[in-house]
Amino acid sequence: MAAKVRPLIAGNWKMNGLKSSALREVKKLAGRMHKAGRTGCDVLLCPPVPLLAPLRVVVKGSRIALGGQDCHAAANGAHTGDISAEMLADAGCGYVIVGHSERRADHGESSRDVRAKAKAVHRAGLRAIICVGETGAERKRGQTLGVIGKQLTDSLPKGCTAENTVVAYEPVWAIGTGLTPTVDDVAQVHAFIRARLQRRFREHAQGMRLLYGGSVKASNAVELMAVANVNGALVGGASLTAGDFWPIVKTCI
Ligand code: 13P
Repeated sequence: MAAKVRPLIAGNWKMNGLKSSALREVKKLAGRMHKAGRTGCDVLLCPPVPLLAPLRVVVKGSRIALGGQDCHAAANGAHTGDISAEMLADAGCGYVIVGHSERRADHGESSRDVRAKAKAVHRAGLRAIICVGETGAERKRGQTLGVIGKQLTDSLPKGCTAENTVVAYEPVWAIGTGLTPTVDDVAQVHAFIRARLQRRFREHAQGMRLLYGGSVKASNAVELMAVANVNGALVGGASLTAGDFWPIVKTCI
């Protein structure tokens, strides 16, 4: 039996957002959450790094957490342009996404790199959201579970717990395309991920949150969030405005 876990609705803004619109949208979201009273889920926004400081002020006193979209494996050093998990913690983040398919594809990150980054997130005392997912070609070849199994084995470091680790299943072909897997496909992959986590992390696995990501929007959130072993969503495009994100958050109230 799956344990009851508090869902997480996370927004990954990717490389989108400038200060004035970001402040406006997050204020709106915080206002809607405040009006609604208690939410039955955790809410997270992962904006571009320059927006962390201004948004930290806006989310203060709200139940919106902030997170990073990536980090370097080292705590500091000669790594021009990179940001460490410790810096993200210092900037008020509670979470860091690692191994997003856009990082894997655009920056050639291997699962080994992702594991080192996830370790760094844990070292900094933050929660790692570790992403896995098959490409369209891999799904067509029937390799979905094989690919995800290997990504899980290679990307998750030792010492993952329900407290410090979230796994996000994001089929690459569903990201930004408007396409989503069937609920049966999502259920199959999430059950597989849970079983793999159980094998390796034993009792910690039950409480780990497994997010679905890829074209989540208000119109499909209810049915996706109702799937067994789906404990929240990692939302891209539909997390950029309060108007789009709030109805998704609301599915967990
Ligand atoms: P979309 O919701 O825009 O498909 O993006 C999903 C994603 O990649 C979140 O990390």
